[in-house]
Amino acid sequence: MLSLIKTWKALNKKGVMGINQRNADFILKYNKRSNYPLVDDKILTKQKAIKAGISVPELYGVIQTEHDISKLDEIIKDHRDFVIKPAQGSGGDGIIVIADRYGVDRYKTVSGRLMRHNEIEYQLSNIITGLYSLGGMRDSAIIEYRVKPDPIFKSISYEGVPDLRIIVLLGYPIMAMLRLPTRQSNGKANLHQGAIGVGVDLATGTTLNGSWFNEQIVSHPDTDNNVSNIQLPMWDKFIHLATSCYELVDLGYIGVDLVLDETKGPLILELNARPGLNIQIANDVGLYSRAHIVEEHIALLKREKRTETVEERIAFSMKHFSVLDK
Ligand SMILES: Nc1ncnc2c1ncn2[C@@H]1O[C@H](COP(=O)(O)OP(=O)(O)O)[C@@H](O)[C@H]1O
Ligand SMILES: [Mg+2]
Repeated sequence: MLSLIKTWKALNKKGVMGINQRNADFILKYNKRSNYPLVDDKILTKQKAIKAGISVPELYGVIQTEHDISKLDEIIKDHRDFVIKPAQGSGGDGIIVIADRYGVDRYKTVSGRLMRHNEIEYQLSNIITGLYSLGGMRDSAIIEYRVKPDPIFKSISYEGVPDLRIIVLLGYPIMAMLRLPTRQSNGKANLHQGAIGVGVDLATGTTLNGSWFNEQIVSHPDTDNNVSNIQLPMWDKFIHLATSCYELVDLGYIGVDLVLDETKGPLILELNARPGLNIQIANDVGLYSRAHIVEEHIALLKREKRTETVEERIAFSMKHFSVLDK
């Protein structure tokens, strides 16, 4: 706990954004409430992305009622692996990643636990009754394609799918973090499930140092491999996808979660209207100072009655927010 306080204190000097400031100055100021449902419901996000030609994991089906639960077999068909998740969940809660099936009644999760059909049904029922949804409202369960991570992540990850979080302010990417699942996080890349956060240089897509439970680390606790100095593949594509999400959902302050599938390439997993602040620890940089640079730039563009394209916005961010010498 002491080290956590020390970490935040040190970051404070670097323009760290606190939770109250995030809520008042960024979320409330830049995110239109009426557009929240688009990102708070993963089914709506998926539909919107598909319409705009943005790749997402294929939807196998949706279960909305207790009665629908019996349709699970029809939805899964002969897929040996799939993912079940609450449409309005967050933080990785309630997600099951199934990696394989045995016979008619056994499912193996990505971390090796065996589940029976009735356990899956029980989980579906929990999701529908709103156990994992914002505010405990009734929810739907999504059944979708299981992303297979690109082999580049094999050495630095432990099971599951690493994801890339990019914070986009008013259409400008301002910070990025790679999140690596650990034994603890059950194949999920959410920090509070126990995943590692690794800072990523915005200009080059090279990994920086890591953090685990708010402590800075250099190697993965399960594989012991170094997590820094790795060049992420297809960086331009990732940054382009994330940046264009500004136009997609018309929200000024978002966290975009992306993954790299071994055959389908970069996919958008979900968007967050209230992204967490730990990305600052992983990057050892404050969001506030970067946000301020973007706000000043936009004020200048306004005075000049100009706006910028996705490409121009990316070039601005790469120029101003790189921490490595190219
Ligand atoms: N289709 C999928 N295939 C494989 N892993 C997934 C899939 N969907 C989610 N995950 C894992 O679970 C994590 C959380 O999923 P996400 O859709 O971002 O939901 P949440 O809103 O709970 O964060 C991801 O970072 C990833 O590691
Ligand atoms: Mg997420």
